[in-house]
Amino acid sequence: MNFKESAEKYNDFIIDRRRFYHSIPEISYQEYETTKEIANDLSKMGIEIQTFQDYTGVIGTIKGTQPGKTVMLRADIDALNIEEKTGLPFASKNGKMHACGHDAHISMLMGAAKMLLEAKNELKGTVKLLFQGAEESSHGAEYYVNNGVLDGIDAIFGMHIWGTLDAPLMNLEAGSRMASVDNFRLTVKGVASHGSAPNLGKDAIVASAAIIMNIQTIVSRNNNPLNPLVVSIGTINGGQAFNIIANNVVMDGTVRCHSREVRATIENQLRDIVDNTAKTFGCEAELDYNYYAAPIINDNEDINKIVINAATKLYGEECLAPMPKLMGAEDFAYFMEKVPGFYGFIGAKNSEKGIIYSNHNDKFTVDEESLHRGAALYAQFAHDFLLEKSK
Ligand code: NI
Repeated sequence: MNFKESAEKYNDFIIDRRRFYHSIPEISYQEYETTKEIANDLSKMGIEIQTFQDYTGVIGTIKGTQPGKTVMLRADIDALNIEEKTGLPFASKNGKMHACGHDAHISMLMGAAKMLLEAKNELKGTVKLLFQGAEESSHGAEYYVNNGVLDGIDAIFGMHIWGTLDAPLMNLEAGSRMASVDNFRLTVKGVASHGSAPNLGKDAIVASAAIIMNIQTIVSRNNNPLNPLVVSIGTINGGQAFNIIANNVVMDGTVRCHSREVRATIENQLRDIVDNTAKTFGCEAELDYNYYAAPIINDNEDINKIVINAATKLYGEECLAPMPKLMGAEDFAYFMEKVPGFYGFIGAKNSEKGIIYSNHNDKFTVDEESLHRGAALYAQFAHDFLLEKSK
């Protein structure tokens, strides 16, 4: 099967699906219509589908005529709470927006489904297509992992359309590509007193101010500067009135990094600083630390090779472009923690066409020239992985 030609043949279908899904965006955990439509589209193709009673998303299964391994291709399907300002004829009118390009992901995987169905006789094993909900929540993927969706899966591949990468280039790099995301809540408890008599209370606000400053030393003093690391406090709420020494402050924050080893040390460092700083002021602190997505690290050499070969087979070496790794996170990491996988990027940007906005901007859109290429890469990778690994 020549997936390059096949993808061109389905170009109109892919663009049509992208525009359709773009016009009906739904946010994380609420992708009911999207799920229904994807299930319909796949059923119409004759693909066996699986949906979930208490969760959004769809899995389609394409069995090759020859036995072999099972590979999963993943597209996320959720949108954002953003009022669209693109002015596109198929723009969303419901106050939500596919501002991260997940509509493009759906359509690329739909295209791959068509191609893989057609190539059934050449497939050595099974391809599962995972249309995943709730990616923007940072941990929507967790549900599928906990519900056995990865059972029997030998590898998983996913990609993101990206606003700063020129279309139709692909970025398929080994190593660390996206950061982890962990969130924490800090509660500082003091003792209230009159604002004129701080000596009679324990000031939770002063303690919190010191904590905020001190935790930055995790990044500036404890961390090797060669390791990217962000520790941020995003919200702070506390105190009752201008003339009361505050007895309670609550803060929310996030930690991002690219290394599994660094990530494993942060909670304890944070706890030490928070506990000891609070104590200095006679206060007590509680840290509630939640682990979400791990860093995305393409570290399976075999799979890296199969992906890159698939792309260059289709479009030559010149289709590949470097891209700096990102501090953003991707819940695809939940899958990669369980099975070998790869996460890549494909360009959305085209300055000549005025397509210049980054993901999550209210004018974000994609150069549709990339879509059939993304579809071809999905299909070629699945085909090649099965061929190579099902020997
Ligand atoms: Ni996204």
